[in-house]
Amino acid sequence: MHTTPYIDDLILERRSKRGFTDQPVPLDMVKDILSAAKYAPSSSNTQPWRCYVVTGEARKRVTTAAVEEFRANHDKLAPEYPFFPQPLHDPFATRFNTFRGQLGDAQGVHRSDKTGRMRDVERQFLFFDAPVGIIFTMDRQLEWASLLCYGCFLQSVMLAAKGRGLDTCPQQIWSLQHHVLRAELGIPAGEMVIAGMSMGWADNSLPENRMTLQKLELEHFASFIQQ
Ligand SMILES: Cc1cc2nc3c(=O)[nH]c(=O)nc-3n(C[C@H](O)[C@H](O)[C@H](O)COP(=O)(O)O)c2cc1C
Repeated sequence: MHTTPYIDDLILERRSKRGFTDQPVPLDMVKDILSAAKYAPSSSNTQPWRCYVVTGEARKRVTTAAVEEFRANHDKLAPEYPFFPQPLHDPFATRFNTFRGQLGDAQGVHRSDKTGRMRDVERQFLFFDAPVGIIFTMDRQLEWASLLCYGCFLQSVMLAAKGRGLDTCPQQIWSLQHHVLRAELGIPAGEMVIAGMSMGWADNSLPENRMTLQKLELEHFASFIQQ
């Protein structure tokens, strides 16, 4: 008998994948995923999400432009909103560095290998070869609270994808490419690029797709106060 609710299985099975096969994803599947994810909760039903789905020639155009931009201006690219405080403090810095070390080891790239690291960042802008790329934007006049709603939406997209056997990688790094994305996709100035997402069939032969990441034990992030 199945004892855990099925959604728990999906939550546990969803992992960020950084390498995909070239097997195409039917566009109807992406439409179904977004049509399910739109039921994510949002503060007073404001639904702050806006998605640009890129496939085929558009995907090629966007990834080519993004990689060119990265090669030419990697030291100047800046996101549309701050990612982390500088410097990042503990315990977050330790978790961040542990993850980066684990990913680098899986990809076979040593911390001192600048060329290898550049190549791996470039792969972010190729959507890790996934056939579907999604760019997410939000009206820039909205406040932090709408980012909470956005998080609910992004997880819903990823779980709806996983439920169909598809894998994803959420990628805030795409915010660094807001100039390129604006030009290539006609994103209005009033929309902020929040993130991108790779979506497709994961290539699980890649070591970076088989990492086991440490998640905090319950007692390290939850307090149960009864009296
Ligand atoms: C808001 C958000 C932004 C992220 N941005 C990136 C990114 O730009 N590039 C990337 O490779 N992974 C990105 N990730 C994936 C995280 O690295 C990943 O979720 C984390 O390491 C935990 O791994 P898991 O998703 O497999 O549990 C992002 C995740 C979230 C939630």
